[in-house]
Amino acid sequence: MSDHQNDLQDVAQRLELKLPHLLFTDKVRALHETIEKEWDSLQQSACQTAAGRALWKHMINDPVAGLLAGETYLRNFHEKIQKDYLNNAREVSGVILAVRTLWFDSKVKAALDSSNGGAQVVLLGAGMDARAYRLNCLKESDVFEVDFPELLQVKTTLLQAAMESTGEHQNLMMTANSLTRVAADIRNNDWFEKLQISGFSPVKNTVWVLEGILYYLSHTHAMQVLNIIADQCALTHTVLLADFMNKPSTTLSNSIFHFYSDWPDHLLPSLGFSHVDLSQIGDPDAHFGLMHDPLNLFNKLRNLPRSQQTYPDDGKPCCRLYLVQASGSPSQTIP
Ligand SMILES: C[S@@+](CC[C@H](N)C(=O)[O-])C[C@H]1O[C@@H](n2cnc3c(N)ncnc32)[C@H](O)[C@@H]1O
Repeated sequence: MSDHQNDLQDVAQRLELKLPHLLFTDKVRALHETIEKEWDSLQQSACQTAAGRALWKHMINDPVAGLLAGETYLRNFHEKIQKDYLNNAREVSGVILAVRTLWFDSKVKAALDSSNGGAQVVLLGAGMDARAYRLNCLKESDVFEVDFPELLQVKTTLLQAAMESTGEHQNLMMTANSLTRVAADIRNNDWFEKLQISGFSPVKNTVWVLEGILYYLSHTHAMQVLNIIADQCALTHTVLLADFMNKPSTTLSNSIFHFYSDWPDHLLPSLGFSHVDLSQIGDPDAHFGLMHDPLNLFNKLRNLPRSQQTYPDDGKPCCRLYLVQASGSPSQTIP
């Protein structure tokens, strides 16, 4: 088959929506009804993200993303993708999410590979993240998922339903050494204590995964969270993986975002991290073969200085998402 035929077949597959059978059982249907009726937009953002991963399945291997997302979010996201393909859009909906997920996956793996033995991994604002079931690099790691209690409860029940089912999810298994769900609101001061009570050890090497979470917090709360993590650098080897929005991204109309940093690579060293690497979507480590068109939005952004807040041609805001890896160790901490 030619490349072109392959591409067409790929597109046709992406335009076809396959819903997991389990979504149509009474129990799972009822859980998703609860999500739609009772959860706020902050919590529901977890299902939107999972829907994106489910629909970018040609890039992301997440066997439970569709189940965790639910029919409504899958249909809505699928409709957007369909429109983009039909309109020949340069950027197809969900591409940022796909790159972001793949970037975090690759950085978690690299951080664990370079640590001596199984570092613990904390997923802060874990939402419907299923890394503990899909990343083999976690096999020696104790994983902690922190999120609101009602979200973690529904997630646990959905995954139990998957493991007990006889259909497409029957071989679902945890790939992490252990998984502990910690119900907490990270705006409250007690979340770190709750994490410790649940088995997190402050002296064990740790990888912190803050994917799609910081900008939902106020400036004060985000800084509190970052400071708590930075303080860990004085105790043990600590790696922080996080995405940051720049100011224009959070000030769009109807935005539900708050915290931003235009220069996370300056902010994090001031908190105590000794190494910081920053990437933008489309950079060599945040590309994953998905940025074919040199004129796409991300390449256009990367070619403008980061201090530029609006595009010179049309004055529209330069909305950036920074993918940031920071680390620190006791030996590197200045007393
Ligand atoms: C966009 S989702 C991202 C979920 C996940 N990290 C992912 O990438 O799939 C944001 C998540 O942060 C959680 N969250 C937001 N504010 C929180 C808070 N104050 N405490 C705990 N979790 C929070 C939400 O419940 C939601 O699951």
